[in-house]
Amino acid sequence: MAKLNDFDARGFRDALSSFATGVTIVTATDHEGQSVGMTASSFNSVSTEPPLVLWSVTKTARSAPAFKKAEYFSIHVLASDQTDLSNKFAKSGADKFAHTVFSMNENNVPILEGCAARFDCKTWSVYEGGDHWIIVGEVKSIDTETKEGLVFGGGSYAIAAPLTTLSKSDAVDHDAEGLVEDMFFYHLSRAYHRMSNEFHDAVRDSGLTVAQWRILASLHGQSTLALSTLAEQTFLDPKSLEDILGFLQEDGLCVVSGEADSRIARGTKSGHERVVHLFDLAREQESAALEGSSSEQKNATRDTLKRISIAQ
Ligand SMILES: Cc1cc2nc3c(=O)[nH]c(=O)nc-3n(C[C@H](O)[C@H](O)[C@H](O)COP(=O)(O)O)c2cc1C
Repeated sequence: MAKLNDFDARGFRDALSSFATGVTIVTATDHEGQSVGMTASSFNSVSTEPPLVLWSVTKTARSAPAFKKAEYFSIHVLASDQTDLSNKFAKSGADKFAHTVFSMNENNVPILEGCAARFDCKTWSVYEGGDHWIIVGEVKSIDTETKEGLVFGGGSYAIAAPLTTLSKSDAVDHDAEGLVEDMFFYHLSRAYHRMSNEFHDAVRDSGLTVAQWRILASLHGQSTLALSTLAEQTFLDPKSLEDILGFLQEDGLCVVSGEADSRIARGTKSGHERVVHLFDLAREQESAALEGSSSEQKNATRDTLKRISIAQ
């Protein structure tokens, strides 16, 4: 283990990244009335009475002066289906609010939709912390949704799952372990995590987010797809879907057309080309995972999974 005086900046960052956090987007309005927002994982609780929370903003961020002066701000805890929104708000200076669904609250703070929770704050104090400003806010109101929070750790996005569904060796209650061992869903969940972790790494290495891959994969081999069907197939809520389609369209990877309820999307040639190798990789991984299973076993497993996934 590295001693305190051995570490360099890189080692310091790596060590910090072993501490998994949630992901938030903090928003406010600057003195010219422009909306500002940035992705931040430095959010933390401070006090219950009065209710205080904090986050820290790097002094070099474009929006740092606005946050330092803002009287009000809101902290949005992102849900696990909001990685694209997180990436959008982590880009410096970009027009983060274009194609983003938001409204203004009574304190003129932009409020984003589809988040797991929100803390509306009044600035309590701002402290200098090295190259960051530490901003403490008094929570004036909150909003919560029953959505799974997004996690960030080791440089990647993740979802939080109960330990027992991920690692049998960590189970301490042997009776419970015996019980889960018999459960189909326990194995389904472990199999999903094992296969998707590896595959999603490859997706990210190819420069796509998992949500973008799901959209392009659904459009692959289809002439067009209704946005309602696409939302179902990609597990995205309609607003996040519109958001991500906006980006994909800007990059020439898909085309969206039509009005209101009859909006449709289609993949472009570049969109299809972008995912072909991922399909090949998925097939390779599938073959490796099912190696040793007979055709009957594979067919029976596929049929069971299909039946479960289309059951209401
Ligand atoms: C998961 C994640 C967490 C982040 N957390 C913080 C943070 O807590 N504080 C911070 O200053 N920057 C953080 N950033 C970086 C900012 O989001 C990024 O610098 C952003 O571009 C700043 O926007 P601006 O320059 O337009 O103000 C984070 C980025 C990511 C992807």
